[in-house]
Amino acid sequence: PEPIISDSSISIAIIGGSGLYEAAGVEIEREFISKTPFGDSCPIIIGTLGGTRVAYIARHAKGHVYTPTTCPYQANIYALKSLGVRHVLAFSAVGSLQKEMKPRDLVVIEQFYDRTRHRKDTFFTEIAAHAPFSNPTSPEQNDLLSKSIISLASQLIGDASLFLPSSYSSDESLPANVFPRKEPSSYVCIEGPAFSTYTESITYRKLGFDIVGMTALTEAKLCCECEIAYSCVALVTDYDCWYIEAHEAVTAAMVSQVQAVNGKNAALIMKKWVSDMSERISEQSTLDFSVHGIMAGAIMTD
Ligand code: ADE
Repeated sequence: PEPIISDSSISIAIIGGSGLYEAAGVEIEREFISKTPFGDSCPIIIGTLGGTRVAYIARHAKGHVYTPTTCPYQANIYALKSLGVRHVLAFSAVGSLQKEMKPRDLVVIEQFYDRTRHRKDTFFTEIAAHAPFSNPTSPEQNDLLSKSIISLASQLIGDASLFLPSSYSSDESLPANVFPRKEPSSYVCIEGPAFSTYTESITYRKLGFDIVGMTALTEAKLCCECEIAYSCVALVTDYDCWYIEAHEAVTAAMVSQVQAVNGKNAALIMKKWVSDMSERISEQSTLDFSVHGIMAGAIMTD
């Protein structure tokens, strides 16, 4: 492990999930584990993607050694904040709770529902600080992300469709595989590692959630506490276990099989988003989103 480092030229980071263990397309400068007050981070790659310097973390690390419960979420986000990162794009493999969201589809997540139980999901354990978390993903960043993915909709493989955030509006007509949403797309984050029971799965559907995963909410919360704009593209791998007429109950093998295609789409998105973000940042010197400065007034302890 290395001590915490900072690097003022890195404001963008990518967090890859299941199946995204390599920093696809990134020319690697160095790889290190950061030693933080919250323990050791996952290996962090620093490198260049299409000319922009970025940090890349595979949240389960190569070889998928961290479970959804044991991922060093606090250390990872602490290390990114120390580097100077202000924008994170995360990818997360998920089960679909809606018929129209098929395996291999992509969903830009807006909301989360917390069903985790055994993990540390705050930096504020010694003093009371209450992060405003009503928008757990950055609406402004989601907007830019949506534009980036729409522009490559025809290149997505595996017959993938894109579900836009409900906050996205544009007068332009959408490609045939891109769908607007009326309600915010919602991700129920379970603790795992077991998949859900049938009763849990149909209950999540009744509650109106769109997808189920095991990780992204925890990162979103920690990023909010660090005033880092967080966006998440959910990569659908299965229909969980509710869709008994059409689909067998989810297994790890089923998830792994779909990941080959999802990984290629994620690599395309990552490259395009980094390029679009870096262009916007260079036009405006910094991109200030509503999460930047959100913790002012959050601390209650004297
Ligand atoms: N990740 C991929 N598929 C999942 C599912 N059905 N439930 C929770 N996490 C998942």
